[in-house]
Amino acid sequence: MLTRIAFVNGDYLPLSEARVSVLDRGFLFADSVYEVIPVYAGHCFRLTDHLTRLARSLAGLRIVNPRDTRAWRDLVATLVEHNGGGDLSVYIQVSRGAPARRDHRLPDDVAPTVVAFCQPRAPVDQALLSDGIAAITTVDTRWRDCWIKSTSLLANIMAADQARAAGAAEALLIRDGCVMEGTSSNVFAVVDGRLITPALGESILPGITRAAVLGLAARDGVDHAEINALPVEALTAASEIWITSSTREIFPVTRLDDAPVGDGLPGPLWTQMRSALQAMTHD
Ligand code: PDD
Repeated sequence: MLTRIAFVNGDYLPLSEARVSVLDRGFLFADSVYEVIPVYAGHCFRLTDHLTRLARSLAGLRIVNPRDTRAWRDLVATLVEHNGGGDLSVYIQVSRGAPARRDHRLPDDVAPTVVAFCQPRAPVDQALLSDGIAAITTVDTRWRDCWIKSTSLLANIMAADQARAAGAAEALLIRDGCVMEGTSSNVFAVVDGRLITPALGESILPGITRAAVLGLAARDGVDHAEINALPVEALTAASEIWITSSTREIFPVTRLDDAPVGDGLPGPLWTQMRSALQAMTHD
């Protein structure tokens, strides 16, 4: 069996031997950011966009980006190669580093910690594609700056667990009466024949898959709009709801809060968009 190889602060080593300090601020304070980059047949999907978002997240937390774009690209390519290529997800985490003492105040002179590893991509569950998934709505208790892809994910994790307890696969997060996104996905809906998604703002992660789907909608002449507010009631009028992410690609939500979405089956626009996205990721 192939030994999984990780990257820690400049070294490639077996994942089972990868270590960071207990004083690392990523561990103590979730003072860190991350990316999940999908790899298909050894090729990263939209790597530049992921690295741009990583740089923005780091800047948002005033963590110095420890590598330039070329060095990041080399790291990812080497890691994918060491892990046998194929279909993977590359996980990258950059923390503010491990100073000598635990202290809430930001340290001045500490080097960021860089950790990266790969996971095999889980095969898509065909039953979930033909039946769709259930989702719930729940209150969004996250902090304000959700555009930063921070590892501070407790609110997301607890909401996702609430969904699991309800027999659902995702929770849609509601803030001020409006849908923001899922716990680890962006949200789309088809209302009155028009594809809509919440416009980007501080409470939404600018998803790379979301951007790809919007690009495909524009390319293929699908009537679509990014709207400033998606009231939760609008979802009850939706004929289709989708979630998008680098790990789940594009999934149809066919039940929301125990009620069917549209006719309760994956919709025709989702079918069209999924094959367009598949063609893009597998070209
Ligand atoms: N999460 N919104 C949130 C809160 C997310 O955590 C994610 C992805 C997305 C979708 O972004 P993208 O299309 O760039 O993957 C939206 C990753 C997959 C994760 O946390 O594992």
